Amino acid sequence: MIIEPRMRGFICLTAHPKGCEQNVINQINYVKSKGEIDGPKRVLVIGASTGFGLASRITSAFGSGAATVGVYFEKPPAPGKTASPGWYNSAAFEDQAQKAGLYAKSVNGDAFSTEIKQKVIDLIKADLGQIDLVVYSLASPKRVHPITGVTHNSVLKPIGENTFTNKTVDFHTGVVSEVSIAPANEEEIENTVAVMGGEDWGMWIDELKAANLLAPEAITVAYSYIGPAVTEAVYRKGTIGRAKDHLEATAFAISDKLKDINGKAFVSVNKALVTQASSAIPVIPLYISLLYKIMKEKGTHEGCIEQMQRLFADRLYSKDGIATDEQGRIRVDDWEMDSDVQDKVAALWAEATEESLPTIGDLAGYKRDFLNLFGFDVDGIDYTKDTDEMVAVPGLV
Ligand code: NAI
Ligand code: NA
Repeated sequence: MIIEPRMRGFICLTAHPKGCEQNVINQINYVKSKGEIDGPKRVLVIGASTGFGLASRITSAFGSGAATVGVYFEKPPAPGKTASPGWYNSAAFEDQAQKAGLYAKSVNGDAFSTEIKQKVIDLIKADLGQIDLVVYSLASPKRVHPITGVTHNSVLKPIGENTFTNKTVDFHTGVVSEVSIAPANEEEIENTVAVMGGEDWGMWIDELKAANLLAPEAITVAYSYIGPAVTEAVYRKGTIGRAKDHLEATAFAISDKLKDINGKAFVSVNKALVTQASSAIPVIPLYISLLYKIMKEKGTHEGCIEQMQRLFADRLYSKDGIATDEQGRIRVDDWEMDSDVQDKVAALWAEATEESLPTIGDLAGYKRDFLNLFGFDVDGIDYTKDTDEMVAVPGLV
């Protein structure tokens, strides 16, 4: 089968197995090139198939030689349809891990559900005994609550009196336009916190701990974002920011519960990157295309794998201890938030138009990263060649 990108709105309906595999191999090679990390040996990654979660799994396995259990929600291939990219990423990861003699098993299903949590608990009990690190990296537009059965949908809206109005770009066409988003009501805020806040993270840790699956000094980390002034009203001070506040507060609550095993929970604030989750957020793609341009010029640009390798090597498993900000958060968004970078982005923001953006911003880099998420436009792949489907994920339980 010859597979091409098929776009609908902000999503791509197809994914290329060979391109996804190459992306995974590139990430593995990057981690290996940076040398060994004296890190965790048994790792559970919730949200392990794409973005920061996949990069965390690769860093654990190929940086520290860890056995990994991955949880994700991905579509297998079906007649006439490719799998979702996370399916191919996981097939490739597990293939590479097995070839390297590393334990890698996965559970595909709804991580918010009691059933999937139980499946993961049974797997860890049977195969690994205990876990040293739990990475929580879910990004989802909705959550069916495991106790009430209610479906919560998250929204991206400002909070308060004012409608948010600012520039945005359609990164497929390059058209810069103005977007206006009316403020959320109380129910929308609560729903967004229910989906992207820390409740489910807390539930995972409670259940793992009750089953005695957390090793002494186990740590857990979840990912957050802060970002610049231009996105603040719609992001950090909006509904999703409220959820991130809740996630960050949950870290302290989890740490309290892990005191008896000397365990600890952290939130790491990561850099803005092109992922399926972030591409759907208005305003962010324009910000990212300006940010990429400046960070690439300065030589400080990183992708998910560079971020996660640095998180493990220089923060979580650093010999010097785990550095945090005054609110207890790990910061690997430090290079993004550098004042010189932010001043330059703010200046470019003011002058960004459809005409200027291709030169003052890295729109081409954005588009390429977006296509790469689906395994397209990856160096070294011949897209005119017939592709064998990767149907099986070797470690899928
Ligand atoms: P992503 O969309 O690449 O990854 C999401 C993962 O969650 C995938 O593995 C997917 O299969 C899994 N997933 C989604 N719903 C699920 C469900 N119901 N059950 C099981 N698995 C499910 O997202 P990304 O960007 O890596 O986000 C991960 C975390 O990092 C999020 O908390 C996000 O807010 C945060 N973050 C993202 C930034 C960005 O710019 N992309 C910046 C800083 C933080
Ligand atoms: Na992820």
